[in-house]
Amino acid sequence: MFFPSSFGTGVATVLTLLVVGTSAVAPLNRAWPLVSKVDHPLDAPLVDRNGTELPPLNTTYYFDQLIDHTNPSLGTFKQRYWHTWDYYESGGPIILLTPGEGNADGYTGYLTNRTVNGMVAQELNGATIVIEHRYYGLSNPYNNLSVESLKYHTIEQAVNDLEYFAYNVKLPMPGGDQVTPDDAPWILIGGSYAGALTAFTKVNKPDAFYAAWASSAVVESIVDFWDYFDVIRQHMPQNCSADVQAVIAHIDSVFDSTNYTAIDEIKTMFNMNLTNLDDFASALQNPMWDWQSLDVSPNLTDPRFYEFCDALEVKDNETAPESGWGLDHALNTWADYWTTTYLPELCGDEDIESCAGTYNPNSSLYTTIAVDNAARSWNWIVCNEMGFWQDGAPADVPTVVSRLIGPGYWERQCMLMFPEAFSAPPTPSANETNQAYGGWFMQADRLFFANGENDPWRGATVSADGTNFQSTDMQPIAVGDGFHCSDLIIANGEADSTVAAVQQQGLAAMKSWLEGWQAPSRR
Ligand SMILES: *[C@@H]1O[C@H](CO)[C@@H](O)[C@H](O)[C@H]1NC(C)=O
Ligand SMILES: *[C@@H]1O[C@H](CO)[C@@H](O)[C@H](O)[C@H]1NC(C)=O
Ligand SMILES: *[C@@H]1O[C@H](CO)[C@@H](O)[C@H](O)[C@H]1NC(C)=O
Ligand SMILES: *[C@@H]1O[C@H](CO)[C@@H](O)[C@H](O)[C@H]1NC(C)=O
Ligand SMILES: *[C@@H]1O[C@H](CO)[C@@H](O)[C@H](O)[C@H]1NC(C)=O
Ligand SMILES: *[C@@H]1O[C@H](CO)[C@@H](O)[C@H](O)[C@H]1NC(C)=O
Ligand SMILES: *[C@@H]1O[C@H](CO)[C@@H](O)[C@H](O)[C@H]1NC(C)=O
Ligand SMILES: *[C@@H]1O[C@H](CO)[C@@H](O)[C@H](O)[C@H]1NC(C)=O
Ligand SMILES: *[C@@H]1O[C@H](CO)[C@@H](O)[C@H](O)[C@H]1NC(C)=O
Ligand SMILES: *[C@@H]1O[C@H](CO)[C@@H](O)[C@H](O)[C@H]1NC(C)=O
Ligand SMILES: *[C@@H]1O[C@H](CO)[C@@H](O)[C@H](O)[C@H]1NC(C)=O
Repeated sequence: MFFPSSFGTGVATVLTLLVVGTSAVAPLNRAWPLVSKVDHPLDAPLVDRNGTELPPLNTTYYFDQLIDHTNPSLGTFKQRYWHTWDYYESGGPIILLTPGEGNADGYTGYLTNRTVNGMVAQELNGATIVIEHRYYGLSNPYNNLSVESLKYHTIEQAVNDLEYFAYNVKLPMPGGDQVTPDDAPWILIGGSYAGALTAFTKVNKPDAFYAAWASSAVVESIVDFWDYFDVIRQHMPQNCSADVQAVIAHIDSVFDSTNYTAIDEIKTMFNMNLTNLDDFASALQNPMWDWQSLDVSPNLTDPRFYEFCDALEVKDNETAPESGWGLDHALNTWADYWTTTYLPELCGDEDIESCAGTYNPNSSLYTTIAVDNAARSWNWIVCNEMGFWQDGAPADVPTVVSRLIGPGYWERQCMLMFPEAFSAPPTPSANETNQAYGGWFMQADRLFFANGENDPWRGATVSADGTNFQSTDMQPIAVGDGFHCSDLIIANGEADSTVAAVQQQGLAAMKSWLEGWQAPSRR
């Protein structure tokens, strides 16, 4: 589903110290490439290295950002940011992160040593900043998200925002008006889409950011991104993978037939009488999307994916062999689990068509233009510039997602959501995006790539299967056994030594690069 009314609230797991998960806004596209939230407890007051007490981490600052970097006369809007300097000493780096495509509330953990941002700051006497991305949360050029207002929501404007911020912000910390990239080394850090933005910015604005850390960076825009589920197919428990493939193959063959009796039987089994069969097929993507909420730290992982697999694979206290239990058992248990547990959580009391249908142009999912609607803002970017449609695999590759789901399923929704922009389903300009920043082939100095073996987005990173990009001193590539952006969070390194190794490699790279820093005027 493009905009299911989703699990938003179910996904966020509130822990004593960390808040994780995709944002709780509904509607929510389950398949965003978004970094995990990391909050920070505000119990102990922070002090700087001289012992002076600092403002609380949730103090919000505002930056006057240009609405249009190609036409500054259009004026500015207020861009929110958060900032602390507990480890800062004059000459230290300024470490900037944007969470990317979401409201940035709840990301203050990225100011602290719960994340690699704070780890680098602590080691190198740096100050940290989290900035909200334009058109998300409360950082908006206009007070609505109409197509007219979204005119300046482009990757290029976002890249320019980061540069313009670095050169023009007067940071609240002592000496904070003298730390432009001409005076101090800036390090840009980001994960997922914001990881790609980090890498794009490093390529495009090499002088503004001396070094960068791009985690699970989806640098290659791909329209038909079926590989998302292929990583999951290969890394999930193989019995569950085999059984999901069997069920999907069966449903696809029935849905491709003209046996309406058999089609209705399946709709009845799953209690989803949707008019359009592709909507039905897309609803069944949800358990696979849950893979993205897994992580290596037990405190950061959402067990829902395994609850689904256990429902299919554990029978009378016995677990299926690698080949699974086979179609009959899998179809029946999936349908049982779906109707008793999964669907009620997904849709609640909502009518199935409004919960999982995508064909009604009057749906509020398409017509709501209020600000702070991350789904709408993110879909503007994917419909125009990136694609990343999470589809069934091509016919010659096994699939855990129905082949009824292809680019057309999503592109039709782009048209419904942004009718003033698209009179027909658009093909996103992924090729242009790749040409602009280099995609997989991008080259930049002092750009650290961190990836996770189990990350469903890995196929859009420089660690994609079938590619062979070499790690170099200036552009290292480190891969651990993590999931999506695992390396950014210190707790994941504590839980998995391969993730810790990635973090240590990143830290070492930053350290050695910063030793060579000179003001650009002296380079
Ligand atoms: C700490 O004190 C030193 C010496 O007075 C001063 O130069 C420096 O700016 C102070 N650092 C901060 C972060 O206030
Ligand atoms: C910051 O957090 C504290 C403690 O939760 C809260 O009382 C305060 O209102 C928050 N301040 C802002 C600006 O959000
Ligand atoms: C992280 O920062 C806190 C607060 O400044 C400090 O008490 C703690 O020792 C730091 N953790 C590490 C691993 O250095
Ligand atoms: C949305 O914002 C635009 C400015 O981009 C304004 O012209 C328009 O009137 C607003 N529309 C609504 C429905 O508020
Ligand atoms: C259609 O499906 C039903 C239910 O699965 C089955 O009993 C019937 O034989 C099928 N009809 C044809 C023509 O295949
Ligand atoms: C599904 O809904 C349609 C339209 O409301 C109805 O005609 C059909 O009988 C229903 N099918 C099932 C299997 O309930
Ligand atoms: C499964 O194991 C549990 C705990 O060992 C036991 O109480 C239960 O009776 C078993 N169920 C079946 C169907 O064997
Ligand atoms: C079978 O599925 C269960 C439940 O998800 C999983 O724990 C187990 O590792 C799987 N075993 C094999 C051989 O795939
Ligand atoms: C959508 O709303 C318009 C205007 O109210 C109405 O004419 C149209 O029939 C509605 N379409 C659907 C599919 O409900
Ligand atoms: C984009 O590039 C790919 C690979 O080079 C090519 O196959 C495809 O036709 C291009 N798409 C468009 C819309 O130009
Ligand atoms: C998980 O959380 C518990 C309770 O807050 C804490 O004691 C434990 O250290 C955490 N584990 C990891 C790996 O972060």
